[in-house]
Parts: sequence; C-alpha cells; structure tokens
Amino acid sequence: MTAFRVGLLGHGTVGAAFHELLEQRAPEVEATTGQRPEIAGVLTRSRGDFDEILDGSDLVVELIGGLEPAREYVLRALRAGRHVVTANKALLAQRGEEVFGAAREAGAQLRFEAAVGGVVPAIRVIGETLAAAHVDRVHGIVNGTTNYILTEMTRTGVSYGDALSQAQALGYAEADPTDDVTGRDAAAKMAILARLAFGASVSLEDVSYEGVEHLTESDIAYAEELGLSLKLIGTAERVGDGLSVRVHPAFLFGAHPLASVNGSFNAVTIESPAITEITLSGPGAGGPQTASAVLGDVVSAMIPPPTLPPPPVELPLVSDVESAFYLHLEVADRPGVLAQVAEILGLQGVSIKSVVQKGLGDDARLEMVVHRVLESKFLAAVGLIGRLEFLRARPRVIRVIEETF
Ligand SMILES: NC(=O)c1ccc[n+]([C@@H]2O[C@H](COP(=O)([O-])OP(=O)(O)OC[C@H]3O[C@@H](n4cnc5c(N)ncnc54)[C@H](OP(=O)(O)O)[C@@H]3O)[C@@H](O)[C@H]2O)c1
Repeated sequence: MTAFRVGLLGHGTVGAAFHELLEQRAPEVEATTGQRPEIAGVLTRSRGDFDEILDGSDLVVELIGGLEPAREYVLRALRAGRHVVTANKALLAQRGEEVFGAAREAGAQLRFEAAVGGVVPAIRVIGETLAAAHVDRVHGIVNGTTNYILTEMTRTGVSYGDALSQAQALGYAEADPTDDVTGRDAAAKMAILARLAFGASVSLEDVSYEGVEHLTESDIAYAEELGLSLKLIGTAERVGDGLSVRVHPAFLFGAHPLASVNGSFNAVTIESPAITEITLSGPGAGGPQTASAVLGDVVSAMIPPPTLPPPPVELPLVSDVESAFYLHLEVADRPGVLAQVAEILGLQGVSIKSVVQKGLGDDARLEMVVHRVLESKFLAAVGLIGRLEFLRARPRVIRVIEETF
C-alpha cells in the first residue's frame, strides 16, 4: 500500500470535517487511486509546524481562509512542488494571478472547487467539462446567507432584520455578516468564476456589488404579486468586446432556473450557444458539505488521476421499493364507493394523503395521492380495487416523488 500524505492547514469548521471525511473514505479512495490518503500533519494557531508538514506531504490542503498567512503557505507549498487544494475565495479573488502563476511555474496543481458554491461543482464544470465551450454568461446564487434571508422574507413575510437574526441563530450567517449582506462575498466568488469562464484576469476590485440590506418586505410583496422571485444574483457576461462582472438583487421570472433555488442552497447557471444552459445547484456551505468538495479535489490531484471506477463491489439489486403514488379511478357515483376503496388500501397498509372527487354525470372520478408505501403492497391493493363492480375503467397509477429541497 502506498500512502498519499496530505498536509492540513486549518482545523476549523471545514478543516475538522475534512479530516474526519478523509479518514472515513480512505479505503474507497485507495480502491480508486491505488494510494491510501492519510493526514501527514495539522497546522492551527496552536499546533503544528508548517515546514515539517510541508516536508512530510505530497499535497497541502489550505483551510485557514483569509489572505495572510494562507497566501504565504500556499505559495511556499506550490514553489516546493506540492499540489495545493484550497477553499479560500478571498485569496483567489484578490491574489489569484500570483497563486496561479506560482502553480504554473512549479508545474503543481491548484484545485479550489470549494471556494465557490461549497459542494456545487461549478469550478470543475466551467474549468474542465466546458473547457472548450464559448461561454456567454454565468449567473450565480453564490451566497447561501443572503439566499436564506430572501427566501425567509418571501416565505414568512418577516423583515430583513428578523430574517438575518434567524440566519445567525441557525449558523448560516457569521456574527459579522457584512461580507455576505453587502454582496462582497458573492463578488469574490463571481471574480473567480469569471476568471475561469472567460480567461480574463478578474479580481474582486473589478466586480461592482450591491447587497440585500436595503431590501424591504414590500419589494418581496411586489415580486410575489408579479410572479417574480427576488434573488441576490452574481453575473459575469460578455458585453460587446468586453466583460461585465457584478452582483446585485434581481427579479427573476418563475421559469428561470435560479428562481426556485431556495434557502441556503447555491446555484450556478452557465450559458453557452452550444449547450443553451446548464444549471448546477446544491448546498453552498457547511463543514461536511464543503469538506466533500475538498476531498474530491484531493482525489483528482492524486497520481495517477482516477479515470476509471474502482473494481465493482457486490450490491444486491432491490426491485420492490417504496414510493408515494397517484391513483386515478373512474367509478359509479354512488354512496360507499370511497369507503370501500379506502378500506382496501387500508388493509394493505396504504394511507391516503389527499383525495379529490369530481362528478362526471352518473359517474365520478376519484383522484388520490397516497403516502410512501412498498410498491408491492400498493399494487396488490390496486389489483383488488380493479375488480370492484362499480369501477368504470382500469385504475391508473403514477408514481409521485415527494421530496422538495
Ligand atoms: N465554513 C464554510 O461553510 C465554508 C464554505 C466554503 C468555503 N469555506 C472556506 O474554507 C476556509 C476555512 O473556513 P472555516 O469556516 O473552516 O474557518 P474556521 O472555522 O475559522 O477555521 C479556520 C482554521 O484556520 C486556523 N487558523 C487561523 N489562523 C491561522 C494561522 N495564522 N495559522 C494557522 N492556522 C490558522 C484556525 O486555527 P485555530 O483552530 O487555532 O483557531 C482554524 O483551525 C475559508 O477559506 C472559507 O472561506 C468555508
């Protein structure tokens, strides 16, 4: 077994979650890459020595955040030929060219999926999947705190101040939420996305930004009246021969892919003539979520990079699964019909979530949605219902996916 030694700088929310995840997933990573990752050393303010960690590492993960000393450590690791994985948007948005240059000169990899959108793989898709595509525009909801605030203002009608307090109580917003609510955090992330999507040197100072602090309940109410969603949107787009990168609140029509991205979720929409658009969405922050993107980067940087799935494991295939169902029945319109149907469903352990009955002359239509139940039980009940003498047509069944995010 060859070990792949990972030096870990920072052991806070993301660093500690990454440490735990790496130890949990090491056997799967070894099966894919042939190398078993292990933590070679940890640096915080009170433990570890950077030079020792660097000497003993094949790759350095930087999860300290901020400009210094993260910048110095990243540059030193790259110049020593180590691959670096970081989640540091401040560093990349403000000193990106310096660190990209150091990686280029040293021939080392610099991976930073977690710096934008948490676990949403926007960096990988723009930088690798769409590396040869001509991108016209990137729109993003790239700050989970402000998206949570706007979602709560819309959902419950609370004021901006109350929604911010809720976000802080739930740990979505920092004690000092200035960078989030002013749009500065989103601006840093849009600078990074623009750098990748358009190849132009864009840093935080090039991005104009406006936040959500001045938005009121009435702005949200107008949006609802007009069927619009109010979101903090980052945009990077080609304008004539140039580029515009900006962050501001914007109304979206309901059919826009970002309109239904709610709560602390992030999403990025990439527009290109060849592909129309691709939207990626998911949790934008959180220790375990961000750690998962960091570990993905570590695995990608391992040599040889995994291009094939690991040898298959034995997993039995399950054919009888649980689902919610929609059931459509055409029946004679007479008393007791619904009760008989409900009794048969009940005997099979199927519970009705909602039911609608509509008259059709002498007949009636029963439409119902039932709670999650094993498919075999539900279909057994439908078989029995299908034999009832008051049925006018074969029962129709469609599966219902109930999850919402
Ligand atoms: N939290 C999220 O959900 C999230 C999401 C996406 C990206 N990120 C990014 O991930 C990075 C880490 O964020 P985090 O939330 O994990 O931060 P955090 O909880 O504040 O942890 C920071 C860690 O860095 C260490 N540190 C700070 N200054 C140091 C120094 N001078 N020398 C050595 N170590 C030092 C701290 O040490 P002590 O333990 O001694 O204080 C702590 O272990 C940041 O770049 C952030 O932007 C975070």
